[in-house]
Amino acid sequence: MAPPPQPPSSTITFIIFSSFLHLALGGTIGVNYGRIANNLPNPTQVIQLLNTTGITHIKLFDTDPTVIQTLSGTGISTIVALPNDHLSSAATNQTYTDTWVQSNILPYTQTTTITAIAVGNEVFSDPNNTTSFLIPAMKNIHASLTKHNLTIKVSSPVALNALDNSYPPSAGSFKPEVIEQVIKPMLRFLRDTNSYFMLNAYPYFAYEANPDTISLDYALFRDNTGDVDPNTGLVYKSLLEAQLDAVYAAMDALQFNDVKIVVTETGWPSSGDPDEIGAGKDNAGQYNGNLVRRAVSGGGTPLRPNDDLNVYLFALFNENQKPGPTSERNYGLFYPNEEKVYDVPLSFVAVNGSTVG
Ligand SMILES: *[C@@H]1O[C@H](CO)[C@@H](O)[C@H](O)[C@H]1NC(C)=O
Ligand SMILES: *[C@@H]1O[C@H](CO)[C@@H](O)[C@H](O)[C@H]1NC(C)=O
Ligand SMILES: *[C@@H]1O[C@H](CO)[C@@H](O)[C@H](O)[C@H]1NC(C)=O
Ligand SMILES: *[C@@H]1O[C@H](CO)[C@@H](O)[C@H](O)[C@H]1NC(C)=O
Ligand SMILES: *[C@@H]1O[C@H](CO)[C@@H](O)[C@H](O)[C@H]1NC(C)=O
Ligand SMILES: *[C@@H]1O[C@H](CO)[C@@H](O)[C@H](O)[C@H]1NC(C)=O
Repeated sequence: MAPPPQPPSSTITFIIFSSFLHLALGGTIGVNYGRIANNLPNPTQVIQLLNTTGITHIKLFDTDPTVIQTLSGTGISTIVALPNDHLSSAATNQTYTDTWVQSNILPYTQTTTITAIAVGNEVFSDPNNTTSFLIPAMKNIHASLTKHNLTIKVSSPVALNALDNSYPPSAGSFKPEVIEQVIKPMLRFLRDTNSYFMLNAYPYFAYEANPDTISLDYALFRDNTGDVDPNTGLVYKSLLEAQLDAVYAAMDALQFNDVKIVVTETGWPSSGDPDEIGAGKDNAGQYNGNLVRRAVSGGGTPLRPNDDLNVYLFALFNENQKPGPTSERNYGLFYPNEEKVYDVPLSFVAVNGSTVG
C-alpha cells in the first residue's frame, strides 16, 4: 500500500522572502479562489491580498464578471470555469457556447490574462451525472473560442478517484467505465488542441483513510527514505508525486504519453472533525509550504523528470458555506478577515539560509 512510517524529520524553518517566486525558474504556484462563503472580502481586496503573497496564477470556479474585471491589468494568469450545470446546454447547443464565450470570455481577453477554461469540475463525482455531456461541451467551447481566434486552452479538472488503481504508481489505471466514454476522447482532444490534463489530487484523503500504512512524512513532503516502485525501481519521496505518476502511467497505458498534467487543486485542511486524522494547522502549513518549495525548486516526478510541477493550491480562503465534514470548510490559506490561518510563507529560504531554485 504505502511506505512504512518514517521517523519525524527535523523542523524546517521557513523565512519569508517575498520576491522569491518572481525569480524562481521551476514550476508555477497558483491558488483556487473558491467563494462558497458569505463572509469573504470583496474582489478588489482579494486581488490586493493575492498580490502580497506573490502568487501570480489564480483559478476561479466560474466567470464572475466582477472578479474577472478586477483581475484586468494585473497580469495574473487566470483559469476560469464553466460550471457543471451548464454542461448539458454546452454539449447540445453550439449557439449556447457561442453566446457564453461572447458574454463571459471575449469582453475580457484584452485586459485579463485568461489562459484556460475549466469545462465542468470533477464530473464523474457530480451527483447529477454530467459525464456524458463533458466531451461534447469541451469541443463546443473550443469551437466557439476558435471562431474568435482565441487560443485559450480548454480542459476539465478530473479527481484522482477516476483511477481504478494507483499503487504502485507504474500500475496506475483509469476506471474501466470512464476509459472509452471520456478519458480517451479527452486525451485525444487535449493532445489535438495542445492543452493539458487538469488533476485534482489530495494526498490528505489517502493519508486520512490509511494513517497506519501511509507515512505522514511522505504525505507532507518531509524528509523520508522514499518508496520504491517495484516495477520501475523509481524512488518516490512524496505521495503527491506518486499520485501524479499513477495518472501518467494510466495515460501511458492508453498511449497518451505526451499530454502533461497541471494539478488544478491540492491542499490540506487546517481543521477537521475528531475522526479526520491529520487535519490541523501544523500539517497544513507543512504540506503547502513543502509543496511550494518542491515545485519552485524545479524538476518533475520520477516518471516525468523534466516536467516541472505546476500546482494550484486549494484554497485562498476558508469557505464557511461548504457542506460536508469540518475539513471542507478549512482548506484556506486565509481566514475571511485576511489573516493567515497558519504561517505558510509562499516563498522560501531553504533550511540553511540559501535560496531554493
Ligand atoms: C503587485 O502589485 C504591484 C503594484 O501594482 C505590481 O508591480 C506587482 O507586479 C504585483 N505583484 C503581483 C504578484 O501581482
Ligand atoms: C441554444 O442556446 C441559445 C443561447 O443560449 C438559446 O437562445 C436557445 O434557445 C438554445 N436552443 C435550444 C434548442 O435550447
Ligand atoms: C442537480 O440538478 C438540479 C436541477 O438542475 C439542480 O437544482 C441541482 O442544484 C443540481 N445539483 C448539483 C449538485 O449540481
Ligand atoms: C453516468 O452516466 C453515464 C452515461 O453518460 C453512465 O455510463 C454512468 O453509469 C452514469 N453513472 C452513474 C453513477 O449513474
Ligand atoms: C482569425 O484569423 C484569420 C486568419 O488570420 C482571419 O482571417 C480572421 O479574420 C480572424 N478572425 C477573427 C474573428 O479575428
Ligand atoms: C545548503 O545550501 C546549498 C546551496 O544551495 C545546498 O547545496 C545544500 O544542499 C544546502 N544544505 C542543506 C542541508 O540543505
